[in-house]
Amino acid sequence: MAYQNLLIERKGRIQYIIINREAKLNALNKATLTELHEALSDAFENIQVGGIIITGAGPKAFVAGADIAEFEHLDDNGGRELSREAHTKVFDLIENGSKPVIAAINGFALGGGLELAMACHIRIAAQTAKMGLPEVTLGLIPGYGGTQRLTKLVGKGKALEMILTADMITAEEAHQYGLVNHVVNAEALLPKAEEILQKILLRAPLAVASAIIAINASAKNSVNGFEIEISEFSKCFGTEDFKEGVAAFLQKRKPVFTGK
Ligand code: COA
Repeated sequence: MAYQNLLIERKGRIQYIIINREAKLNALNKATLTELHEALSDAFENIQVGGIIITGAGPKAFVAGADIAEFEHLDDNGGRELSREAHTKVFDLIENGSKPVIAAINGFALGGGLELAMACHIRIAAQTAKMGLPEVTLGLIPGYGGTQRLTKLVGKGKALEMILTADMITAEEAHQYGLVNHVVNAEALLPKAEEILQKILLRAPLAVASAIIAINASAKNSVNGFEIEISEFSKCFGTEDFKEGVAAFLQKRKPVFTGK
């Protein structure tokens, strides 16, 4: 599919999804959200793809938020629909994805941009990146999962401070808060994201997918995460990769996983 707002690049088993609206600081309009749904679904289904890196085009922004220009004529029903659709089709899709998704935060990650990064499994930030949830400056609150995911990542106190003040924080502060996993020079951003993803791609794919399901369960009140862990753990024993992993260890060689 040809995209108007995304660039898709493949590097080995890594699929890059690059938000490409540089003139608008990669703000997420509805068309971009629709394309993200398509591109993510495609990457999760494609057996050639092992993992995904999401980043923003240009040096200035990862994503500077939802496209504010599209908010002007929304009423409460329109807001509900926008939020629910984005949750299901993009943000939850990423979080519950069966393949690892890394956010490479190359600049401003504000509002929906930070929410996009927080839905990813791992976040790497350039030293120059700035992050925040400034929705209250617009008379809104975060609507793409921000109130929930930020609280889980940094704790209630910091989440309240960030959301209520609408202040931006630096990459170093985000690292101290546990919001990003690593901070690197801008030039090292994509190499670092690739290094981490390549390491994950050496591991057993079905076990990686099970680990994502079990860890995600820890953040859901509606399920018992320990039961989910037992279930996913037991499923792993039925895989060829489990037999290969154990055989390789006993034979003192590197495993060759097939994802079966
Ligand atoms: N939605 C729509 N357009 C946006 C946008 C957004 N979230 N963020 C930036 N843009 C647009 C600007 O309107 C501007 O477009 P124009 O050149 O056609 O006027 C262009 O991107 C460049 O942004 P600009 O504000 O001129 O850059 P800056 O360097 O002066 O400021 C920011 C950068 C990120 C501080 C500022 O753009 C900003 O505050 N953006 C909104 C952030 C926000 O509130 N996000 C949450 C949305 S819910």
